[in-house]
Amino acid sequence: MCFYEIYFSPTGGTKKVADAIAAGIDGDIRKIDLIKSPQEMEKIVFTKEDLCLVAVPSYGGRVPGVVVEQLKQVKGNGAKVILAAVFGNRHIDDTLLELSDTLKAAGFVCVAGIEAVAEHSLVRRFGAGRPDAEDVKELTEFGKKILSALDNGTCKTEPSLPGSHAYKIYNGVAIKPEVNEKCSQCGACALECPANAIPKENPGSTNKERCISCMHCVSICPNHAREFSKALVLETEKRIEAACAGRKENKLYL
Ligand SMILES: Cc1cc2nc3c(=O)[nH]c(=O)nc-3n(C[C@H](O)[C@H](O)[C@H](O)COP(=O)(O)O)c2cc1C
Repeated sequence: MCFYEIYFSPTGGTKKVADAIAAGIDGDIRKIDLIKSPQEMEKIVFTKEDLCLVAVPSYGGRVPGVVVEQLKQVKGNGAKVILAAVFGNRHIDDTLLELSDTLKAAGFVCVAGIEAVAEHSLVRRFGAGRPDAEDVKELTEFGKKILSALDNGTCKTEPSLPGSHAYKIYNGVAIKPEVNEKCSQCGACALECPANAIPKENPGSTNKERCISCMHCVSICPNHAREFSKALVLETEKRIEAACAGRKENKLYL
């Protein structure tokens, strides 16, 4: 059996969650970063014996569209998959269900789902500091529980997941990073933008139609040269403040 830890993590929160879950699963781990190596997963010949963990952030209660397109290119060949939807302390809405539908259509068999909180990548004070030590412990326990259910044959192949198949409509947000005077045109952002929204020949610009507001360019820019409108973030913060209040729980669907 091979264990694959697969994640799309523009600002690092989803990867932290995936690492914590994977810590509860024995064996060698092959990590696949869907941003740094977007084609790696589709080249793998998965088998029924394999176990994958696929972790994605929730955007507007959905799987980011670019990830859905990537996963459609993959052949699961009956490999088992643990799903993880990571959210910024508001809600995952239909993310787990959409991830499950997408991976099932690609030939994977879903064995468990997890929803987990990480810092909100647009409004960092929501879910600040999460996943924290308590979360990491709990998520590792989730990993152990899933593994033991697989080992003793009590794992369901279609766990009941939250959400509606009439997925929530999500049309993106207006927050689009742009360069400031510190940009050295090094092109690091253009190389890794998961939406191909930054032209390699002109990394100083942003294609706002393509940009998915994932904030990856902001988080990796060595010169801190990518910025976004503070006024728009404040507007978002006010709009979702009530929904993001309180400490939200991590949940395991097994
Ligand atoms: C465009 C966008 C939309 C988001 N929508 C939601 C949402 O609907 N619900 C929520 O709780 N968090 C939402 N978040 C927060 C992310 O799901 C959360 O911060 C996640 O951990 C980001 O993953 P990353 O750190 O791996 O980039 C959104 C973030 C972005 C950038």
